[in-house]
Amino acid sequence: MTTEPPILSTHGLCAGYGDFQALFSVDFEIMPGEVVALIGANGAGKSTLLKAVMGLLPSNREMIRHAGVPVGGSAPYQMVQNGFAMVPEGRRLFAGMTVEDNLLVAVDHGRKNGAAIWTMQRVFDLFPALASMRKRLVEKMSGGQQQMVAIGRALLSQPKVLLCDEISLGLAPKVIGEIYDSMPAITKAGTAVILVEQDVSRALAASNRLYCILEGRITLSGNSADVAREDIARAYFGADHAVA
Ligand SMILES: Nc1ncnc2c1ncn2[C@@H]1O[C@H](COP(=O)(O)OP(=O)(O)OP(=O)(O)O)[C@@H](O)[C@H]1O
Ligand SMILES: [Mg+2]
Repeated sequence: MTTEPPILSTHGLCAGYGDFQALFSVDFEIMPGEVVALIGANGAGKSTLLKAVMGLLPSNREMIRHAGVPVGGSAPYQMVQNGFAMVPEGRRLFAGMTVEDNLLVAVDHGRKNGAAIWTMQRVFDLFPALASMRKRLVEKMSGGQQQMVAIGRALLSQPKVLLCDEISLGLAPKVIGEIYDSMPAITKAGTAVILVEQDVSRALAASNRLYCILEGRITLSGNSADVAREDIARAYFGADHAVA
């Protein structure tokens, strides 16, 4: 038995956009090195949860903890220093810059997080396809290659938790496979991964545990190997749409 606190946890997390409340008392936790999938329909609140954790939306101090220490309400740069790094939906790379320069941006941030586990060389070892493209402009690369750069950039901030928002969206199956194949090497380095994923089968296969969110509320959590498909369907679509 371990008494170690979760590396990241939320406690009654409420968040939204102005008057619109998108998350209702969300309790979520992830242990070091764990892969946790976050699934739910369009508009359920998956991205909002990641954004709230990253300090991109306001929250109260006690609602978010890093290794047991309340950090809610911190600025995004402080959340990066705490060890949270997001691979955002749509990647948000610097399109007019090279692979190397996109990665270097993060190396500067990562320095403040103490001993570097992730180096540029290690990112190239993780994604060999990128190694020969160091000097290529990101805008000239495929979506899958760009996603690798986005993951690499996030890793170079030396995260303890990598928050991935729909990293497989719109990509070819082969490259999705390559990206998911990189997960064990990431978690082996001790980094925990939150996977927001539309493809439920992929989410289950790639994760230790999962949470399902529906209209801003967690409707299911459990071990990915154990959860029943019917329970997922009910949690995903709501009781009214449960499969018979
Ligand atoms: N910038 C915003 N301003 C106002 N409302 C927003 C904003 N972003 C999201 N919302 C609303 O918040 C709710 C949760 O949205 P969110 O983007 O977190 O969903 P999601 O689960 O990530 O969905 P998707 O699968 O479509 O990415 C939705 O009702 C959405 O319309
Ligand atoms: Mg989203």
